[in-house]
Amino acid sequence: MILCLSGVTTAAEMSSDVPLELEKPPYTTPWQRYNRWKQIDWKEYSNLRYDVPSPISTPKKFETPITGDPKKGKQLVETRKRGGGCLACHILPDAALPGNVGPSLSLIGLWGRSDAHLFNYIYDARQFYPNTVMPPWGAHQLFSTAEIKDIVAYLKTLTQISHYNKFKSPIDNPAIRPIHVDTRDNLDAFENPSIFSVELGEELFAQSCQTCHKKTTDFIAWASTMPKFETRLNKVIGIEEFITRHALATTGDKYLLQTEQNLALAIYLRYIANGQEIAIDTRDAQTQAAIKRGEALANRKIGQLNFACMDCHAISVNKWIRGQYLIEPIGMYDHFPTYRTSRGEIWDIRKRFQWCGVAIRANELPPDAPEYGDLEIYLADINKGRLLNVPGLGH
Ligand code: HEC
Ligand code: HEC
Ligand code: HEC
Repeated sequence: MILCLSGVTTAAEMSSDVPLELEKPPYTTPWQRYNRWKQIDWKEYSNLRYDVPSPISTPKKFETPITGDPKKGKQLVETRKRGGGCLACHILPDAALPGNVGPSLSLIGLWGRSDAHLFNYIYDARQFYPNTVMPPWGAHQLFSTAEIKDIVAYLKTLTQISHYNKFKSPIDNPAIRPIHVDTRDNLDAFENPSIFSVELGEELFAQSCQTCHKKTTDFIAWASTMPKFETRLNKVIGIEEFITRHALATTGDKYLLQTEQNLALAIYLRYIANGQEIAIDTRDAQTQAAIKRGEALANRKIGQLNFACMDCHAISVNKWIRGQYLIEPIGMYDHFPTYRTSRGEIWDIRKRFQWCGVAIRANELPPDAPEYGDLEIYLADINKGRLLNVPGLGH
């Protein structure tokens, strides 16, 4: 056993003196998506690892005006079941909680657009703007050709000036809808059930770590220097994966990723660093390359809905996707792991990455994926200087 520990390194890359299990996977293999999540396999669409080509479709020509059933079209634009539907981004007459990422379509019938234009725009808006945030509804099989014709038929009926941005209640109007501000105190045990994780983490630390690390004060700054590029694994690892691999290599304890114990230790190590500025060291070439890759991944279109992370997270101010206000990447990192009231669970940042991927219908990766490491260090980099405040509390 190692008796004399010299304290904690703050170098950009982890020192090779730090014992880490390098062979075994840090989660139960094979990776399986959580059973309460949608179980569809979206392998015919890109994810953060695999690029499945999705060529922009060629415009379809129509000899006669497009006919369809406007009633069905109205139902189709309003349904949430097809990847969120049109109201996620467009105001339409009498819509409940529409978003405003795209223009209001409540008078689209007066825009002078041809039927073919409307059809092709909905089928695959990339024909017009290759980088559009509007999903390629037809090209990615979210709506059939007949259904898109019904939608076109409905849009053509939207000509009544009296319907212009008519809302059932003021809250339905995204321009004036109040932004929900969470005023709950995330460090209050009555508000945030994950405070109990701090205690569990402290116990586990005493049990499992203190044989070698006598003083927790050695770790007061450590969490703020993570994630780090780990040369032996040739990827970026976060606090959670560090805990699994370091415990396996030292005591043999199995704190696999996204288990209660792993989260508790990860929360505890950040909790004692609360108030410290996020201060990852980015001077070395490996770290810089990882941040660059992370930035590229954040801007890469993935999934059946063909979204990049930054399509939702770097949109200009006052934008809503349906009833959800879009948050910017600054402020997204300092409070993880976080308790989600709506699900009654604690999530680390990797689980949030997995969730946002599945929401846009892109297969998630295992929690220790190098791609997530790149994304995590990119987020940590743009959040440098923000103060750690863990465990977080969110909806
Ligand atoms: C994620 C956001 C988003 C969703 C969801 C979305 N759109 Fe759009 N849409 C946009 C944006 C943004 C524009 C503005 C032009 C652009 O960037 O492509 C647009 C433009 C349009 C236009 C205007 C085309 C023109 O001629 O200028 C139509 C019509 C349209 N969308 C229809 C739909 C329909 C129908 C649906 C649902 C099947 C839908 N949109 C869902 C974002 C979205
Ligand atoms: C058998 C001894 C041993 C045990 C048990 C042990 N560690 Fe370590 N730990 C080390 C050694 C050796 C180092 C590297 C030298 C140093 O940084 O002090 C280290 C380093 C660390 C570091 C600094 C890593 C870096 O970035 O440089 C952290 C954080 C850490 N340990 C946390 C833990 C936690 C949490 C546990 C319990 C799950 C634990 N250790 C259990 C021996 C141990
Ligand atoms: C279709 C829009 C959309 C896309 C695309 C998207 N997200 Fe999200 N993301 C959201 C919403 C909505 C939330 C929840 C906001 C809230 O909690 O208030 C969220 C929350 C998050 C959070 C937690 C923020 C916090 O402060 O707790 C992180 C981290 C995150 N997303 C990362 C990503 C990453 C990485 C990607 C790309 C793989 C991505 N998101 C893609 C909509 C999106």
